[in-house]
Amino acid sequence: MLQTIRWNKGRVILIDQTQLPQKLKYVKCTTCEDVAKCIENMNIRGAPALGVAAAYGLALVAYHSKTTSKKELMHELENNASRLRFTRPTAENLFRAINRIISRVGLEDLSVKETKDLAIREALRIAEEDKQINRAIGKNEAKLLKDGSVVLTHCNTGFLATSGVYGTALGVVKVAHEQGKRIRVIATETRPLLQGARLTAWELKREGIPVTVITDSMTGYCFSKKLVDLVMVGADRIAANGDVVNKIGTYSIAVLARAHRVPFYVVAPTSTIDLKMRSGRQIPIEQRSAREVTFIGRKRVVPRGVDVLNPAFDLTPAGLVTAIVTERGVVKPGKVKSLFRP
Ligand code: MRU
Repeated sequence: MLQTIRWNKGRVILIDQTQLPQKLKYVKCTTCEDVAKCIENMNIRGAPALGVAAAYGLALVAYHSKTTSKKELMHELENNASRLRFTRPTAENLFRAINRIISRVGLEDLSVKETKDLAIREALRIAEEDKQINRAIGKNEAKLLKDGSVVLTHCNTGFLATSGVYGTALGVVKVAHEQGKRIRVIATETRPLLQGARLTAWELKREGIPVTVITDSMTGYCFSKKLVDLVMVGADRIAANGDVVNKIGTYSIAVLARAHRVPFYVVAPTSTIDLKMRSGRQIPIEQRSAREVTFIGRKRVVPRGVDVLNPAFDLTPAGLVTAIVTERGVVKPGKVKSLFRP
């Protein structure tokens, strides 16, 4: 079974997602800086996987630290936490995992050795929880898909975007498929980095789930021809009012889904919900290098000197979302806060 990211005795081993689908290669990280670079370079991506990667980055700091002073260890962890926070600004899971480890080890009155062990244990726990949450979402909510459903999805929300074997939105599809339902997927290519064409299509093909790849600009055509029964996408951060920030292009799909009266589901673990953000407008949107747009592979496709915009994510207002699907149940977007009530 392939694992997107794993801890192996002081090393973090992750699938290099920039090489897929041509090559299945792994990157080995021995320092937190290695992990931070992998996050920035998109060797690993997808909100839940970013949370796990950041947690393992801090585990590497703890594992390799030579210090005998607790104060010094906390300083090393804090410094590396700041570096990780600087990698990608949008996915909530990354910040949540970092803050969880720092606050957990900071609170306890422990020796240096105990603090190191706790940081590593907490990172492993974050990865394990992610696996279980993915499984729970898929198992509980596969009922949203009927035999014969055609699901349109965007970007990649499969196992590659998490530490598990299912994924979030694709996890629901995979479980429905395992239950014997004949599900078909339309995967948008997801320019500029092609997570849909490269990663989603690769994952689904491996699992034997029928998938049709379209360019992003073919989405309207598919809705107008009634080829889509429902949309399932993931999220990078969900605000308290149910606004959803996800891969650039999600908003356009949501508008089309509404115009064609097609249900639009957002599937995400509750660790993607950030109640500190009252509305999605407060969520930072990562702006990435123009090169991702001006080049396809090594080939320049935009004339030199032309201005380019490259926001990695966009905001889908809560009003366009049919429901948010989490490991704690399915809620209307206006009710996300209820998921956190004891
Ligand atoms: O830029 P990426 O590839 O990290 O963006 C990923 C997405 O937008 C996913 O839809 C989101 O993280 C959910 S993954 C389960």
